[in-house]
Amino acid sequence: MASYGLSAAILGACVLAIHLIGAEETLYVAAVYEHRVILNPRPGVPLRRRAALEHMEKNLHAFAEQAALAALQGAHILVFPEDAIHGFNYTRASVASYLETVPDPEEVTWSPCADPGRFSNTEVLRRLSCMARKNRLFLVANMPDRQPCSRASDPLCPPDGQYQFNTDVVFSDNGTLVARYHKQNLYFEAAFDTPPRNKYVTFTTPFAGRFGVFTCFDILFREPAVTLVRDMGVRQLVYPTAWMNQLPLLAAVQFQRSFSYSAGVTLLAANVRAAALGMTGSGIFTPWEAVYHHDSTEGEQGRLLVSRVPVLDPLAEVKGLTNDLLPPPPRLLALI
Ligand SMILES: *[C@@H]1O[C@H](CO)[C@@H](O)[C@H](O)[C@H]1NC(C)=O
Ligand SMILES: *[C@@H]1O[C@H](CO)[C@@H](O)[C@H](O)[C@H]1NC(C)=O
Repeated sequence: MASYGLSAAILGACVLAIHLIGAEETLYVAAVYEHRVILNPRPGVPLRRRAALEHMEKNLHAFAEQAALAALQGAHILVFPEDAIHGFNYTRASVASYLETVPDPEEVTWSPCADPGRFSNTEVLRRLSCMARKNRLFLVANMPDRQPCSRASDPLCPPDGQYQFNTDVVFSDNGTLVARYHKQNLYFEAAFDTPPRNKYVTFTTPFAGRFGVFTCFDILFREPAVTLVRDMGVRQLVYPTAWMNQLPLLAAVQFQRSFSYSAGVTLLAANVRAAALGMTGSGIFTPWEAVYHHDSTEGEQGRLLVSRVPVLDPLAEVKGLTNDLLPPPPRLLALI
């Protein structure tokens, strides 16, 4: 009996040691920031570019502070919320001065911080790129994007000759733009167009392999979310959102966690903090654990969440990666 107990203890110690070694090699540090967005009080009124930049700089200033704090805590990746730089409730016309043309990172390799003159009218891209580079972390943010089009070659091109997209941008830790995602499922957003084609956007990191990208309302739809996680095998997602809590079934943290758990994926969810509008609730969700912030009282400031989470990408070429040491995730999926 005693000897059985001893060998069980030794076995237990070995398993623990393997877990610790494995854990050390398969963790990275993720951060999300619930930002109390400074809004344009008259979003229906067009502004000059200079005024729009001055407005956005108030939010970007807070982003820069948080990026530095996240870096101090060792974050490899930081996610900011949807609409958190420019705000919301714009019309197609009044958002004009907030738009930048985000180049397709599948076609051009560009660090706006290192090479700011390459494309004009890209001040916000430059600011974000420099934050990523200075703090040596992958950075995810959301901004409005203008893409010129021609009705001659594209019958879906809007009459004014441009698409306006609600867009997530991702920068690598040296400031290079590595992903651009146009929100597929808009939620009453008069300023924006639905992309004519569905795109599945992922990016690859040296610390955790592949991440997928989608935005807010997208989480309720098959495309692109279900295809990413079920058909493409993406198991780590960055998720900027501006989500209004609706009981009983559409509270932000509840929905974020249920998606992560039921799909067996990690979800890095950053919500806007605008408590008067019912927007609160962000978190870092793995299939096993949740670190989240939900406080619906008004007047409070933003909140940075930082957590060590396991690498879940089976395709990751992280040195020494041993995903098999992780417990199996809960498996799919009433939702899917
Ligand atoms: C935006 O519009 C919603 C209703 O569509 C309203 O409840 C909210 O107060 C508006 N917010 C701002 C900042 O204008
Ligand atoms: C910058 O980051 C990108 C994306 O991670 C990488 O492909 C590229 O090699 C990096 N460039 C330099 C100069 O480190």
